[in-house]
Amino acid sequence: MVEYSALIEPDRVHSAIFTSDEIFADELERIFYKYWVYVAHESEIPEPGDYATKWIGEKQLIVSRSKDGEVGVFYNRCRHRGAAVCMEEYGNATFFRCPYHGWTYNSAGDLVGVPYPSRYAELDKSTLGLAQVPRIGVSSGFIFASMAEEGPTLEEHLGLAAGFLEDFVKASPTGKITLSAGTSKSVFHGNWKFVGMDGYHTNFTHKTVLDLRQRKAGPNFQRGAGNTDKSANESWDLGNGHCRLDLTGRDKIAVGVAGNTAIGAGIPDTPDGHAYMDSMVGSYGDDAADVIRKSRDVHIHVWPNLQLIGASVRVIRPMAAGRTEVLSYPAMLDDVPESINTTRIRSFEWFSGVASFGTPDDVEVFERNQIGLQSDYIPWLVLARGLTPEPVDDGALVGNVTDEVPQRAQMSAWLRAMTNEGDRG
Ligand code: FES
Ligand SMILES: [Fe+2]
Repeated sequence: MVEYSALIEPDRVHSAIFTSDEIFADELERIFYKYWVYVAHESEIPEPGDYATKWIGEKQLIVSRSKDGEVGVFYNRCRHRGAAVCMEEYGNATFFRCPYHGWTYNSAGDLVGVPYPSRYAELDKSTLGLAQVPRIGVSSGFIFASMAEEGPTLEEHLGLAAGFLEDFVKASPTGKITLSAGTSKSVFHGNWKFVGMDGYHTNFTHKTVLDLRQRKAGPNFQRGAGNTDKSANESWDLGNGHCRLDLTGRDKIAVGVAGNTAIGAGIPDTPDGHAYMDSMVGSYGDDAADVIRKSRDVHIHVWPNLQLIGASVRVIRPMAAGRTEVLSYPAMLDDVPESINTTRIRSFEWFSGVASFGTPDDVEVFERNQIGLQSDYIPWLVLARGLTPEPVDDGALVGNVTDEVPQRAQMSAWLRAMTNEGDRG
């Protein structure tokens, strides 16, 4: 039995939480197989019969839209002898037929066919549908599942994070995004908890990005100014492990000047940029520029496994103490000129894709972090930057962008989960 409270202190954590197989197994049970975990976005299964296979930890799931349009999240396990019934990543199907002995389920998970049934004395098909994950919830089109029968509602768990999910999708005049432009996938040799919100690493890990930006912008480029202890940018603890960076510090000054215009919203001064702005004004009126800016500036970790950053959705899947898969999707906006979405894909490719200028450097540093933590003669990591963040009106805690507010927010949620104390609520 691990004594979890001995591993986390207010300003430091023990490296075993990143390296121990026993702790990893407990994390799956106490966090991933219990809490609200992001599984898919509604836009991945828009039509009746659409499905997507997803993972939570070691459990594979089928997220399916039935012919009646209902979303179901099922364990990918045949009720006969347990084979996975679906191996495709995405598709549209009327039935899932198990490859082993042919038991067949419809898109609502009902068992509808059993070959050669006369050899069963009795078989009540109505009790042998695919097992559903006990609870499903949706927030701004993001589908979450909880494998616990009871617990806080999704709304309670998300708390302040829900508003940022909404901000993210409101970059579309219809308030809808689609994850239709493909997936960037990578597996790295490091712990899942390294994929957090970190405003301290940028000027070091992302030297390549800064070099390129500097080359483009010329001599007046204020290199790395937004990521220092003097910056107006902030790090936020939103409660329940959710955290964010607010990187708008310097932009706040410019907002009033350009007003509710394409330029004020930071979108291109092109016919498409203006058409996009016009339709946003049609939907959001005088707030349109602000809505666009807020969406572009979303930089949030929804604990434990979802991140929304700029135009990208990032999903973290723990595979082992020292192995993690990250799936990233450029979020396409519904009902906007094509070039607006093309720009979002290009910016995703630039920083977030597997062959981009940003993510590979993060992955490199995560792997080095894992290597370092295995040398645990002195096992403590120091998380003491900005130990006393300021409370703000809505209950969040705010510090300088380089503070370790997000790391401590996640570690305290982690400790509550591992000691079964639940969400802060
Ligand atoms: S295991 Fe699925 S039909 Fe036998
Ligand atoms: Fe990074």
